[in-house]
Amino acid sequence: MKKWAGMIGLTLVALLAWAYLARWGEPSVDQPIAFPHKTHVQQLKLNCTNCHQRAEKDAAAGRPPTALCFACHAAVEAKNDEMKKVRAFGESGKEIPWRRVWRLPAHVFFSHRTHVTVAKVRCQTCHGPMETLDRPPARPLRKLAMDDCIGCHEKWEWPKEITEGGTEPVRVAAGRRVSTDCYACHR
Ligand code: HEC
Ligand code: HEC
Ligand code: HEC
Ligand code: HEC
Ligand code: HEC
Repeated sequence: MKKWAGMIGLTLVALLAWAYLARWGEPSVDQPIAFPHKTHVQQLKLNCTNCHQRAEKDAAAGRPPTALCFACHAAVEAKNDEMKKVRAFGESGKEIPWRRVWRLPAHVFFSHRTHVTVAKVRCQTCHGPMETLDRPPARPLRKLAMDDCIGCHEKWEWPKEITEGGTEPVRVAAGRRVSTDCYACHR
């Protein structure tokens, strides 16, 4: 009997450990190509906005078009299967069907432009250390709950180089309190 109880106990511990590691309940995302941010940001010294080109002017940051990958990868030797996939998409002219990882509920409004261009918040403040990843993240590295958004808005202090050095419209935007009104985020 004792032996069985021990076995069942061990099985339970193993199951719990597995559930914890697999982070039960959080959906995980698979991407069509094992794109490494690390290689492109740390080794090739690309900026985030070289690829996520809409982040400075639009609400959405956007994903790079296949043509941008292929501009380099047409010439880079396809050493492995993942690089061969990039080349195949490039040659066929098809867009790579990337899947979304960060997503707010539809009732929340968020604009990259406001945060990236006006307030100059770093991408990593909200997304975590993307530049260290050697494969696509299966889940958000950092979650953004309502308290995180409001927490920053409440205690935000405009840096001097923005309030003093920015262009006229930016100086006007700066200096005012950041809204914590429900309707600012829920439209
Ligand atoms: C500025 C040029 C450039 C751009 C733009 C670029 N790549 Fe690369 N990429 C490279 C180079 C160079 C390597 C090889 C690095 C090495 O061998 O260490 C590479 C490596 C890779 C690898 C293989 C990494 C590994 O370690 O196996 C993948 C996958 C990849 N790139 C996908 C993409 C995708 C997808 C895009 C578009 C979103 C893209 N690349 C955009 C230059 C680029
Ligand atoms: C060479 C192009 C390239 C560069 C440079 C690049 N990214 Fe990406 N990024 C991608 C691609 C392709 C994906 C989709 C695959 C993935 O998730 O890895 C992506 C996905 C993301 C996502 C997830 C988006 C979602 O679907 O929710 C975030 C966040 C992100 N990148 C942030 C950054 C940040 C921050 C930097 C700079 C440190 C950066 N990226 C630099 C190409 C790039
Ligand atoms: C203040 C926080 C914040 C900052 C700063 C920020 N993001 Fe985001 N990002 C988000 C949120 C929130 C979402 C999900 C938006 C949604 O679902 O509407 C998101 C989504 C994304 C996505 C996927 C959806 C899309 O918009 O295309 C990419 C890619 C991305 N961010 C890249 C970046 C990059 C690159 C930077 C820096 C140039 C950056 N983000 C700066 C909060 C932020
Ligand atoms: C690290 C700080 C920070 C975080 C985190 C942050 N914000 Fe902001 N947000 C700002 C700043 C600073 C501004 C003011 C920019 C301006 O006035 O143009 C702003 C402005 C806004 C505005 C426009 C409000 C207005 O007064 O016009 C909205 C909407 C918004 N943020 C939504 C969000 C949402 C949703 C999240 C969470 C997903 C979020 N923010 C997370 C710093 C942040
Ligand atoms: C700075 C942006 C911001 C402000 C201001 C804000 N919210 Fe939210 N709210 C969010 C975000 C982001 C979420 C989604 C959180 C998530 O998905 O985890 C959310 C979610 C919610 C939800 C859905 C419940 C949930 O947990 O998903 C309700 C209800 C809500 N907010 C009510 C309010 C009310 C009432 C106010 C004013 C007192 C308010 N919010 C102000 C950003 C904001």
